[in-house]
Amino acid sequence: MSDKLGVVILAAGQGTRMRSKLPKVLHKLAGRSLLGRVIDTAKRLDPACIVVVHGHGGETVRQAFADDATLTWVEQAKQLGTGHAVRQAMPALTGMDRVLVLYGDVPLVSEETLARLIEARDDSALALLTVDLEDPHGYGRIVRDDNDDVMAIVEQKDANPLQLSIREINTGILIASFGPLKGWLEQLGNDNAQGEYYLTDIVELAVRTGVHVHAAQPEDPLEVMGVNDRVQLAELERHHQRIKAERLMRAGVTLRDPARFDVRGELSCGVDVEIDVNVLCEGRVELGDGVRIGANCVIRDSRIGDGVEILPNSIIEGAEIGAESRIGPFARLRPEARLADHVHVGNFVEIKKSDVASASKINHLSYIGDTTIGTRVNIGAGTITCNYDGANKHRTEIGDDVFVGSDTQLVAPVKVGNGATIGAGSTITRDTPADALTLCRATEQRTVKGWKRPVKKK
Ligand code: UD1
Ligand code: CA
Repeated sequence: MSDKLGVVILAAGQGTRMRSKLPKVLHKLAGRSLLGRVIDTAKRLDPACIVVVHGHGGETVRQAFADDATLTWVEQAKQLGTGHAVRQAMPALTGMDRVLVLYGDVPLVSEETLARLIEARDDSALALLTVDLEDPHGYGRIVRDDNDDVMAIVEQKDANPLQLSIREINTGILIASFGPLKGWLEQLGNDNAQGEYYLTDIVELAVRTGVHVHAAQPEDPLEVMGVNDRVQLAELERHHQRIKAERLMRAGVTLRDPARFDVRGELSCGVDVEIDVNVLCEGRVELGDGVRIGANCVIRDSRIGDGVEILPNSIIEGAEIGAESRIGPFARLRPEARLADHVHVGNFVEIKKSDVASASKINHLSYIGDTTIGTRVNIGAGTITCNYDGANKHRTEIGDDVFVGSDTQLVAPVKVGNGATIGAGSTITRDTPADALTLCRATEQRTVKGWKRPVKKK
């Protein structure tokens, strides 16, 4: 028995209240666009097809998902109502057995809630996702009869005073059997307060043909809240972040202040991770056991080993950090910075596309780019790898047990042999031999006796 699920996502709305040049559904919540989130959730239900209804000028929206070949796009040139929007999508849903209607601006609906709705439909041709709200103003109300059976949905603007007092509202999300849905949509009229083809009117049509309309509720009312303006967007963002933070804390992560911690992407943590205030994790971030992250750090697409300590105000992107290393404060690790175990990186040090072997230290004010550093190396304060000649990048190779004196420039391509020492203040342009001191200074040190400091002119 085939039971093909088709999903239609309505996203034709203008979103004027966002006051934005960007279409509403492309605004981001926790780093992912609203529509992207709905699509992700829809995909987890394993549907046979996903149809997105976009509005006039929806090209920007389409383009944002250009590399996703699984989506079908349907234009609804004029917004004549939610019923009209679904009707436009029906030809693209041909062959489906069930149709689930979602909204591009309702980003937090969970897979679990949708699974419950799908289950609620069961043997009926129609099931709705409803929720009880303290303040139901603005929403369509769920009208039930004396047996508590759903009879109709009445829009705010069409409701009588008695209906307005109903607190169970229509979230808009529903699932219906394809054939009956098609029939109901064809019968919709627009003789109502807004002159629109209401999707909600299919409920009455269904009831009239003897369909028993089921209803399911979400775990959390905020799951079904839509985004109309930036205030609501921020509310949902905070809600979403709080849930993520709670999940982490329950899994053994200490958050000094869950309200000052944000995840925009996927974060996995070992046990006994401690995160101080104002930390942002973006993309895919993996933190090993016992990792400690100081205040004001940004960590993006990085893997951080067991026992690592990141001191405050460090920015880490596309990096790998081995166990027991210590980074910061004020360190910047850029893409392809790969540090082994027990590495120390201190303040105002920038590392890019470089491998640093275990127990090496770069503690102060340095730039290390396109470099390989061996084990137990000490890079003195102010050391710069001059990796770029204005046209091409070149590599610096530093062996094991090297000591680089402060304020050294290593002009790449250049190699420093194992055990070499570089005298402070050197500009190294040629390979330096192992186990020897190499230094290069413009002049011998001299002293001018009786020299007077300049004084201010009167
Ligand atoms: C709709 C429901 C209402 C429900 C509320 C939940 C109808 C008639 N009413 O009301 O019962 O309580 O949602 O938020 O369905 N859209 C299109 N094309 C259109 C019209 C709308 O794609 O022609 C999309 C919009 O982009 C939006 C969604 O459908 O994402 C809902 O449209 P909106 O006009 O906001 O519906 P409401 O009037 O709020
Ligand atoms: Ca409307």
